[in-house]
Amino acid sequence: MAQLVLGIETSCDETAAAVVRLENGKAQVLSNIVASQIKDHSPYGGVVPEIAARKHVEKIDDVIGLAIREAGVELSDLSGVAATAGPGLIGGVLVGLLSAKAIALGAGLPFIAINHLEGHALSPKLTQDLDFPYLLLLVSGGHCQILKVVELGQYKRLGTTIDDALGEAFDKTAKLLVLGYPGGPLVERAASLGNPKYELPRPMINRPGCDFSFAGLKTAVSRLAQSLENEKGELSNECVNDICASFQAATMAVLLNRLEAAFAMSELTGNNRRLVVAGGVAANQAIRSAINELCESFGWQYFAPELKYCGDNGAMIALAGAMRLEAGITSDLHTKARPRWPLDEISAPLNLKHGYGKKGAKV
Ligand code: KG4
Ligand code: ZN
Repeated sequence: MAQLVLGIETSCDETAAAVVRLENGKAQVLSNIVASQIKDHSPYGGVVPEIAARKHVEKIDDVIGLAIREAGVELSDLSGVAATAGPGLIGGVLVGLLSAKAIALGAGLPFIAINHLEGHALSPKLTQDLDFPYLLLLVSGGHCQILKVVELGQYKRLGTTIDDALGEAFDKTAKLLVLGYPGGPLVERAASLGNPKYELPRPMINRPGCDFSFAGLKTAVSRLAQSLENEKGELSNECVNDICASFQAATMAVLLNRLEAAFAMSELTGNNRRLVVAGGVAANQAIRSAINELCESFGWQYFAPELKYCGDNGAMIALAGAMRLEAGITSDLHTKARPRWPLDEISAPLNLKHGYGKKGAKV
């Protein structure tokens, strides 16, 4: 049976809604509306939670209406309504979550609460055939983790950052070099024009396990920038480009080293050696191609979402909702927003032997 799901995403600075159809394991994105708040936050060099929440309130109705209209469906055609319930900025999460609950209640549809990280984890399936299990590198503004995705709802975290997320390191580097916001694409562009000639630390390389650390790298970038400033405290464009190239090279070396360790830790063998790179930083072409090459040399298959599904979007939430619905999992309308919600914790909801009580699927 086909599932037709409206997915709503408001956990950070994108107000997003999409309609996805899932039939026989194939997803079709019927609409994907993303209203970005970049210009509202750029004067501050980062996301301001209160502004984000207010903008979500202003935009959410239009974004959802547009997603429904563009998909050419009626609410009564839908099989369910899904929304990000966390992790994320609580004010924003509440806006999307309450809207989804209201629509589900009003239209008499099932409601599905989605972990935002599960949305990213499943995002390549929007456009590609990808079987479980696989290894997942999730690199975004708020997260930097390596997980083993066993099946829908079963995630095992193998490694994580002990301080900053990778996207955060890109954003902080951009802020320091006065490049603008969001920093990732700007640092990538500057790096493509520069030469990675400066030695920067490559934290955690060759340490046991596959954890990350990026705080020290950010401090090193700051010191390097200061040492290269002229008497007026300015940096030449060439210096900025070279710093960005050196920063990006250091992050890539760390990513490749940690992934190599994770390949062994994953215990995936033969045709199950699949790696998915997802999250906002997965839009970085240099990082994508370096990881693709690593996969080729280790005999792993490489998957990444299409660029438009790397950053936050409603389609990945709708797909996660459709997959959960297909597995017979829905959520209670009392489901609370969770600012923190580790992905490996959601293995419980699929374990239906615990039932739906306090310790069961709705916990
Ligand atoms: O997944 P996402 O849209 O939001 C979170 O869930 O965090 O990721 C946003 C992050 C930002 O830190 C942004 O700077 C980073 O992804 N990013 C990039 C690139 N495009 C976006 N980082 C590096 N290179 C890029 N091209
Ligand atoms: Zn995200």
